[in-house]
Amino acid sequence: MTTAPPAFPQARVCPHLPPPAYEELRQGPPLSRVTTHAGQTAWLVTRYHVARTLLKDPRLSSDRRRPGFPVISVQVALLTERKRQALIGMDPPEHDIQRRMFLPDFTLKKVRERRADIERIVNEELDKILDHGPPADLFTEFALPVPFRVICRLLGAPWEDHEFFQDAIRRLVRTFDTEEGRQAGRELLTYFEQLVTDFKKTPDGAGLIGRLSGSGRISDDDLALAAMSLLIAGHETTAAMISLGAVTLMENPAQLAAIRANPEAIVPAVEELLRFQSIADSANLRVATDDIEIDGVLIKAGEGLLIPGSLANRDAEIFESPDTFDANRDAGGHIAFGYGRHQCLGQNLARLELQIALTALWQRIPNLRMAVPAGELNPRPPGAIQGIDALPVTW
Ligand code: HEM
Repeated sequence: MTTAPPAFPQARVCPHLPPPAYEELRQGPPLSRVTTHAGQTAWLVTRYHVARTLLKDPRLSSDRRRPGFPVISVQVALLTERKRQALIGMDPPEHDIQRRMFLPDFTLKKVRERRADIERIVNEELDKILDHGPPADLFTEFALPVPFRVICRLLGAPWEDHEFFQDAIRRLVRTFDTEEGRQAGRELLTYFEQLVTDFKKTPDGAGLIGRLSGSGRISDDDLALAAMSLLIAGHETTAAMISLGAVTLMENPAQLAAIRANPEAIVPAVEELLRFQSIADSANLRVATDDIEIDGVLIKAGEGLLIPGSLANRDAEIFESPDTFDANRDAGGHIAFGYGRHQCLGQNLARLELQIALTALWQRIPNLRMAVPAGELNPRPPGAIQGIDALPVTW
């Protein structure tokens, strides 16, 4: 009897460390077979160079509707049903046209102009925590609201509706129930369709939605879907990185002290946190549109590929002692934001938010520490952006 290839992605045991079984996968061949959530057999890429080569290969498609696309979760299964795809699920030429439309809001220059606004948001959330005193839940009271408020402002999504967004997004991205996810996705999309209609009646509407609604450059339906997916992509990931980043720093007190003593050290430290955490096992999914031969392996047209940063970013040929967190190393070549055409649109924003948030935390609360050992935090199940939904802290 032949045994099925191992499941991928797998669950973390300690939320800020990769699943133990990934170590064995990394020691195996650069491409190996794994079993997805939907029971398909797909290719898993375990090495950095193969990952980068494939992520640049035009014979790989990101279109979730194509047969063979690796369905690694309920959420990906829901995307395979969609008539329209958001940017991350588009191929050229549509992909490049839409990406160019959104890019002006995400350039380094534009993002830097947001610094004071992000600092204000960070400090307001910390004020609230300091006002009520210890203990606090650093995830729900800080890591989540900061990027949520930032992305709402960037998009022009009304903050007064944030409780609705938060609840619907939680039901969409956390569920294991297809119908619950489908329903939450419908509610969010209907909300954004209405918002785009309303924005068309108000010239000079706020943010990216205001800039593009009624511009004639994008259909209302595509803009509504884009706004919904940017809202989700723009905070889920960053919230996970702020909380797991804080955990990793608290687990490495000497490095945290060195970063606090030298404010510029936060820049390389954030790159290393991105590499070390590589939270997006659910990203970098592809399906081959043609046969591809690489590293002596034949990937056949129609076969799915998983190219996670959690393995490539721990390739010992590229990153020395990859399992060691070293805030001084040059981790800049990591692929935690992906690589190639779909490389993260929001990476400049995410970096700045992380730098500001992880600096302000200990400036404002110098004795901040975890209220429970890291091993007792509850990691999210596989298939989601890896992270935690609660981080008890005290000071
Ligand atoms: C630490 C935080 C973040 C991480 C780790 C992250 C990770 C990623 C990864 C790995 C991809 C590549 C997906 C692929 O190739 O299939 C991606 C794409 C994307 N990300 Fe992020 N992301 C983060 C923050 C953000 C933020 C703040 C936004 C803001 C809206 C954002 C929006 C997007 C979009 C729109 C794409 C698709 C780009 C395209 O297909 O051209 N992300 N992200």
